[in-house]
Amino acid sequence: MIPPPRLIPTLRRATADDLPAIGAAQGRAFGFHMSPADIEDFRPLFEPDRWLLAHDPADPDPVVAVAASYPFDVTLPGGSVLPAPGVTWVSVAATHRRRGVLRALMTEQLRGFVADGVAVVLLTASEGGIYGRFGYGAATTDRRVEIDRRFVMFRPGAPDPGGARFADAAQARAHAPDVHRRWCARNPGAVSRSERWWENVFLDREHHRGGGTALFHLLHDDGYASFRRGPNDTCRVADLFAVTEDAHAALWRVVLGLDLVQSVSTTAVPADDPLPFLLADGRRVRTTGLADGLWARILDVPVALAARTYATELDVVVEVGDPFLDRGGRFRLRGDPDGAVCEPTTGPPDVHLDVAALGSLLFGGHRAQTLARARLIDAPDPAVLRRVDAAFTAEREPQYGTSF
Ligand SMILES: CC(C)(COP(=O)(O)OP(=O)(O)OC[C@H]1O[C@@H](n2cnc3c(N)ncnc32)[C@H](O)[C@@H]1OP(=O)(O)O)[C@@H](O)C(=O)NCCC(=O)NCCS
Repeated sequence: MIPPPRLIPTLRRATADDLPAIGAAQGRAFGFHMSPADIEDFRPLFEPDRWLLAHDPADPDPVVAVAASYPFDVTLPGGSVLPAPGVTWVSVAATHRRRGVLRALMTEQLRGFVADGVAVVLLTASEGGIYGRFGYGAATTDRRVEIDRRFVMFRPGAPDPGGARFADAAQARAHAPDVHRRWCARNPGAVSRSERWWENVFLDREHHRGGGTALFHLLHDDGYASFRRGPNDTCRVADLFAVTEDAHAALWRVVLGLDLVQSVSTTAVPADDPLPFLLADGRRVRTTGLADGLWARILDVPVALAARTYATELDVVVEVGDPFLDRGGRFRLRGDPDGAVCEPTTGPPDVHLDVAALGSLLFGGHRAQTLARARLIDAPDPAVLRRVDAAFTAEREPQYGTSF
């Protein structure tokens, strides 16, 4: 089959007036319709300068493709924070697909981030096969769990600290952002939420509830949870942010104590969550899905690697390839639990990898030895990879906590 000719679209930044056309383009790509009310609900999160639009001069549609970003901060292992745009609303009209429009958008968007001095870019992907070619690496793992609440018993002696209380939406709106900020500070990979983001969460429009109720809110001095009751005695935990183990136990005791609920589902139980160990039968927390979560694209290797801490002392030279953007090079990384220095070097490399693989390691969510087995990392001396893994391990399983 002869491939369709490449299309060189006209790219431009959005203006405030473009939002309805963007909404239409997005709806066509993802299979929904945005009403005028939806458009206005979204407007506070719409920063036109951050939106790249593609136009095909031969097509009457003003917007045939979109790529945008939200201005997030992300937490690195050790607790420091980097500004990190979260790429979002990426779509190309089905009439224009596979003609290089996404490639044109990605090129322009990443060049813009480089010009702005961005070190790390984030995204979550609709499909796992799209973004590796642009230098993004799958960096965290999304885990879906389902808990058959009817058979849950807490282990004798499991903490029962109390302190969780129901609250209305206004009280929760006042409480949740501070808890979330504290939660972000202790979770590598955590993505910040702006006040506008919280406003949008608390709009909680009926047609976005997937057939469930409005959100119920649980507060704890060091925690926050929200959930919906759904059809067939289900309960879906939307957010659960616990800053202390007491808050974690207290919130889960209430959620798993909801009479008349059979099944509780959520993505807020990462692989290292202690919840199964609080229960008499940890197998009640059943994993129903595992997939790539946050993806990281490193644009400034020294800044990204020096921003985090390392669990053990490490002194290594990495040769980073970046076939898409040429942001790689050879760098010496010296790190320990107190901090790190990373700078260009001409010394002999210990490890060779592409920038996407480095993105997979950044938050400690994947092991260098695993990537080496997949031939994504090469190290002549295998002992180096064991040292890299020991050092890159994060204090917690990284999780981002906010879908975008
Ligand atoms: C995914 C989507 C943005 C791709 O846009 P596109 O303009 O067709 O992509 P391009 O033609 O620029 O393709 C760029 C490269 O990515 C590859 N690619 C595109 N979509 C892909 C997919 N879904 N899976 C795997 N590879 C894909 C192309 O084969 C091409 O490869 P190459 O240039 O390295 O040989 C578009 O199909 C779309 O909007 N899909 C529905 C919405 C969606 O999933 N958006 C992504 C949200 S994260």
